Amino acid sequence: MTRVRIDLFASLDGYASTTDATDENPMGEDWGRLTSAYAATRTFRQRVLGDTSGAGTTGLDDQHAAAHFEGIGAEIMGAAMFGLHSFPDDPDWKGWWGDEPPFGTPVYVLTHTAPRDPIPMQGGTTFHFRSTTPADVLAEATGAAGGLDVRVGGGVSTVRDFLRAGLVDELHVMTAPIVLGRGTRLWDDLRGLELTHTVHSEVADSGTIHVTFSR
Ligand SMILES: NC(=O)c1ccc[n+]([C@@H]2O[C@H](COP(=O)([O-])OP(=O)(O)OC[C@H]3O[C@@H](n4cnc5c(N)ncnc54)[C@H](OP(=O)(O)O)[C@@H]3O)[C@@H](O)[C@H]2O)c1
Repeated sequence: MTRVRIDLFASLDGYASTTDATDENPMGEDWGRLTSAYAATRTFRQRVLGDTSGAGTTGLDDQHAAAHFEGIGAEIMGAAMFGLHSFPDDPDWKGWWGDEPPFGTPVYVLTHTAPRDPIPMQGGTTFHFRSTTPADVLAEATGAAGGLDVRVGGGVSTVRDFLRAGLVDELHVMTAPIVLGRGTRLWDDLRGLELTHTVHSEVADSGTIHVTFSR
């Protein structure tokens, strides 16, 4: 049965977005600190960077990184994560990920902007643009996933919308042992998530706390 899954990075104080981006450094330094344990894994190096040398960490962080890529049949993301907020005037914008994005599935981009035609990419990814409710786009993505899982990839506000609507079966939060002190808070309005889901916590050698809520 299709499950709705989220993997997210958060700081120890619960922030899931960073605030120090500049034109010269669009991701900011804090994003690197938030994701450093994941970026060090063998899976990230292989799957995202195309590094076939076998380098990278192989412990708990890597196990979760590998699980992230398994069994996904469709993806949902918000307009900002796709890049429409950064490039609002570019009708040909195709996302941040180059000619062959790492999804390999249909990707449903939620946006209120003017309708766009689907964009087929190399490697099996097709971007579709939808203006509808989380429940309705999830129904469409579930149909497209062919029995595999649907991932809500981000950004933070889209993830929080799906969580608040009670649509998420598995939330895996990689909590980095850093204090950001500002940004978009992940947990606000989600009081009692541990009552509707079972919580499993693990600490990796990197100091990353992997907390998984599942039902
Ligand atoms: N911590 C993590 O693991 C993680 C992962 C991914 C991203 N992020 C962070 O998340 C941030 C970006 O996320 P975000 O929260 O700003 O934005 P987002 O969730 O990517 O996109 C939100 C936008 O999507 C559109 N949208 C959302 N729901 C919609 C609906 N039902 N119908 C139509 N349009 C809808 C709206 O844009 P319009 O109205 O303009 O169309 C809305 O403003 C970045 O800072 C990024 O670094 C963090």
